[in-house]
Amino acid sequence: MSVTQSMVEDVTERGRLALKTFWPTLNENLSDILDNFYTKLSHHPEMSKLLTDQSLDHLKLAQKEHWEDIFLNGHTPRYYERMARIGMAHALVGLAPHMYISSYGMLH
Ligand code: HEM
Repeated sequence: MSVTQSMVEDVTERGRLALKTFWPTLNENLSDILDNFYTKLSHHPEMSKLLTDQSLDHLKLAQKEHWEDIFLNGHTPRYYERMARIGMAHALVGLAPHMYISSYGMLH
């Protein structure tokens, strides 16, 4: 059986629906998840140097908006623009790409 365009669209649509359906559950827990995330970063010898107490509220809010937009709206042009901005912001503060990627493992 070959994979048709409509099969791919069906899987994509189901994925979008799953993200939207899961969002309220994630949203209820997101503050705790982000508190935990930034606490872990603040104990990391290198990553902690990039954070200040004053920046934490701003960073938590920026991440919340980021995840909300992904879960509710998916991969829109705005998503790609924001990803480029986020990549640039982290590069400018000197966060190495491997540290950025590995930090996803602290997000739970
Ligand atoms: C799960 C991985 C991460 C996500 C999704 C994420 C998300 C974000 C977002 C959405 C912003 C705002 C970008 C903007 O629009 O200006 C931001 C900025 C920032 N992030 Fe992250 N971040 C992650 C990992 C990290 C890590 C590991 C650090 C290391 C300490 C870090 C430090 C910062 C700093 C310092 C800024 C502010 C940059 C500036 O002043 O312009 N982030 N991040």
